[in-house]
Amino acid sequence: MKDNSNIQKYKRLAPFYDKFMGNRLFRKARQQAFSEIEVRKGGSLLLVGVGTGEDFLFLPADASITGIDLSEDMLRIAESKRNSKDITLFQMNAENMEFGNQKFDVVVLNLILSVVEHPEKVLEKSLNCLRQGGTLLVFDKFIDSNQKPNVIRRLLNKITSAIGTDITRDFHKIKSGFPIEITKEYKTINDLYTIIVARESLSNDISV
Ligand SMILES: C[S@@+](CC[C@H](N)C(=O)[O-])C[C@H]1O[C@@H](n2cnc3c(N)ncnc32)[C@H](O)[C@@H]1O
Repeated sequence: MKDNSNIQKYKRLAPFYDKFMGNRLFRKARQQAFSEIEVRKGGSLLLVGVGTGEDFLFLPADASITGIDLSEDMLRIAESKRNSKDITLFQMNAENMEFGNQKFDVVVLNLILSVVEHPEKVLEKSLNCLRQGGTLLVFDKFIDSNQKPNVIRRLLNKITSAIGTDITRDFHKIKSGFPIEITKEYKTINDLYTIIVARESLSNDISV
């Protein structure tokens, strides 16, 4: 999905996003995802494609949080939910994101790899931002590893892609070639979504 079209799509979606994605099922899944990671006191998290800030509820109170998103309409809603947490928001393209020497303890990729035009680029940039030994947390709607999407899913994808998300992506394919080791992976929300915890693997240690 092209960046400009994503800006337009999420401009249209922003006013309704929380009605669909802020429901009980999604909140439970987000809570489940964040319960899988440990954040040290005062640790730093980067939320890539932060959207309307639906993740804010589940972040540790004393963490330092940075969120980026392409859409100013989504960011405006996130801004209104910043509450008392240490949250800094930037309008930025995840495919080109740069934070200089700043490294994060956790990079969160929730519902973003299925949305961006080049998910591999976003994964590469995310790894660049991750401190050594840091954690990648991913929550998204991937197909099963090395499976072809079935006809129904491909047809449905025409609709979901027009709205703003591709439901035919395979995280294992996206991550191939990157030094990433998955430490936990399981399905949630009626097996439609996947939660993945991963870390940068040491050299010669690339997992499947
Ligand atoms: C499905 S929403 C997910 C939002 C949030 N992560 C969540 O879990 O609810 C996808 C978000 O990615 C943003 N987005 C799309 N393309 C992007 C890009 N290239 N760089 C940064 N954000 C992007 C959209 O504006 C939107 O806010």
